[in-house]
Parts: sequence; structure tokens; C-alpha cells
Amino acid sequence: MGLEERTQSAGPRPERQHARADWKQMVGIGIIAAALGIAAGLLIDWFPVSASEQAKQIDTLWDVLIIFSVPVFVGVTVVVLFSVVKFRMRPGEENLDGPPIHGNTRLEVIWTAIPAIVLVGLCTYAFVVLEDVEAADSNPLNVRVVGEQFAWTFFYKQANGKEVASTQLHVPINKQVKFTLQSKDVLHDFWVPAFRVKKDAVPGINVTYVVNPNRLGTYPIVCAELCGLGHAVMRSTATVDTQEKFDSWLAAVGKPAATAGGGGGAANAEDGKTIFTSQDANCSTCHTLADAGANGSIGPNLDTALKGKDPAFIKQSIEEPSAVIADGYQDGIMPPNYKDTLGEAKINALVKYLSEVTKGG
Ligand code: CUA
Repeated sequence: MGLEERTQSAGPRPERQHARADWKQMVGIGIIAAALGIAAGLLIDWFPVSASEQAKQIDTLWDVLIIFSVPVFVGVTVVVLFSVVKFRMRPGEENLDGPPIHGNTRLEVIWTAIPAIVLVGLCTYAFVVLEDVEAADSNPLNVRVVGEQFAWTFFYKQANGKEVASTQLHVPINKQVKFTLQSKDVLHDFWVPAFRVKKDAVPGINVTYVVNPNRLGTYPIVCAELCGLGHAVMRSTATVDTQEKFDSWLAAVGKPAATAGGGGGAANAEDGKTIFTSQDANCSTCHTLADAGANGSIGPNLDTALKGKDPAFIKQSIEEPSAVIADGYQDGIMPPNYKDTLGEAKINALVKYLSEVTKGG
């Protein structure tokens, strides 16, 4: 019906009473809302503690992006809401029209030029930051990071040139570390949030990035690429040490357990217990074992699962966790890299310990 009446009327229709509003009021609301938005954006603590040189620049970049992007979002929202409220059609205004307007060249030039300048400026700044955080020092510490379902293994070259493996990442403070990321199976993503930088580990290629750790402490490592059922447990820790502590740690990595090393294989059950709860193996996080005071529930209860099993079965379960899967558990949750990271002597000690404490009953 409104349409019929409209087609019948000739000439310009009368203007609606509420078709004009004070644009200064809108700009005022926009400026206040943008200021509040920026303040909130800067006050929120978005990130964990920062532990690298790279983190500083990345955090500043984030703040600058907040300062520029909040007003854009707030500005668009304010114009939309202001228009909806101010220019809404009141009852009885069905046949009235807004003022006749034919564009506004000056406005169009301004709203094209300002975003273009802001965009080019931010892209340039982000590119400079990227160049800076990727700048390589001449003599970095090289760490090869290998991801697999669902564990990280860190390989270092010792002073004698021998490569050793660890399940934990240790790095010295104030020295650049160059990570070379590799994957044995699917895409993973090596991320230490405290360092801020992260990249995918891609099967078949070497992906690198550098980080200059600058704060002592231990920080979480997470896999940031959905990689299968155990993705959530694909975690480890990164420890930033003094150079001295790091050197002695590195020298000790890969060394056989104290008593197991001397005679060449006389594995000792007491060592096995130490290894069981140590950071290297960390069995107690996932397994229950009364003798070690462990009560993890992610993997099978070893007091029952290993009862009466021979050492060969126990050894296979550690070295090739996919060979036999306990009822009710998923393949792929137990880290498959203990053969590399613990070494023969420690695994033998662990097997001896486990077969002794699960024998009785
Ligand atoms: Cu590896 Cu997610």
C-alpha cells in the first residue's frame, strides 16, 4: 500500500522531520568510545611474561595495532548505531524521505586516503619488526627441534661433536638460539609463548627461527597446530639458564645413569626409580605406580598393567609404545621418543626397576 501511494506521488517528497542530525555529536561519541577502547586494550595483560629480545618488539607492535585498529572498529560501530537511532523511521513517516544528497567528493577522498595511509604505514612497521626479530647473529646456539605425535625432542651438538637428545629444552641466557624445526609425521607447531615467536614444523623441510632469551626461568612449550588425539599433551618446558649452568647441563645430557655407566650395563633398580620420576622421563605425570608415589591417570596404571610381565615386554612398551596398546587407552599418547632421549642404559635401569616393583603381589 505504501508502494502504491509512493508511485502516485509526483515530484520531491516532503522531508522527514528527523532526517538530519548533528554530526558533531556523533564524532564526539566516537572519540570518547575510541579512547575508552584504546585504554582498555592497553590495560589488558594479553600475554604471559616475556623472556626474549624478540618479545619486546612484538608486544610493542601489538600495542600499536591496538591503538590504530580500535578506533576503526569503534568508528564504524558508532556511525552504524548513531544512524540506526537518529534516522530511524517514526510512526507516520512512512511516506517521507531524507534530504536529497548527491555524494560528497571531499568525504570520499578523505575516507579513502586516511585508511590507505594507515594501512601502508602499519604494513611497513610490521615488516621492519619482522626483519628485526628474524635478524641472525653470527654465532648462535643451534638446536634441532623434532616434533612427532605427540612429543618434542631437542637435539644439541656437544663439544665433542656428538649429537645428544633431550625431552626438555634448555638454552643459555643472552645468546641467540637458532631452532631448526623438523617433523617426523604431521604438521606440528613449536611455540614457547614467553618467546612470542612460533612456526610450524613441516614434514620434509627444515623451518628455522631465532630467539634471544633474556630472562632466567622455566616456561611452557606447547604444540600450536592440531596434530591428532594427543595434541593437548604435546607439551614440554623451556628453561633459560646462565651460560655456566647450561654448559654443565649440556655436558650431562646423554650420559648413562651414574651406576649403570661404569660397569657397562649393570642396571640398578634404584636408578630406575630416580629416572621414573625425573624430568627426563616424567613417567609419574601419566602413570600410577605405588612404589614411586606416582598417581597419574593419563596412561595405564603400571601396578596392574605390568604385573607379571617380563622385562622384554616392559622394554618394548617404553621404546615402541604403539606395539601393544593397553585396553581402554589410545595409541599415540605415550611419547615415542624415549629410545632417543633416555638412551639404552637409562631404559635398562627403568625396565629393571619396573619389573621388580610390579613382580610381587
Ligand atoms: Cu603436535 Cu599439536
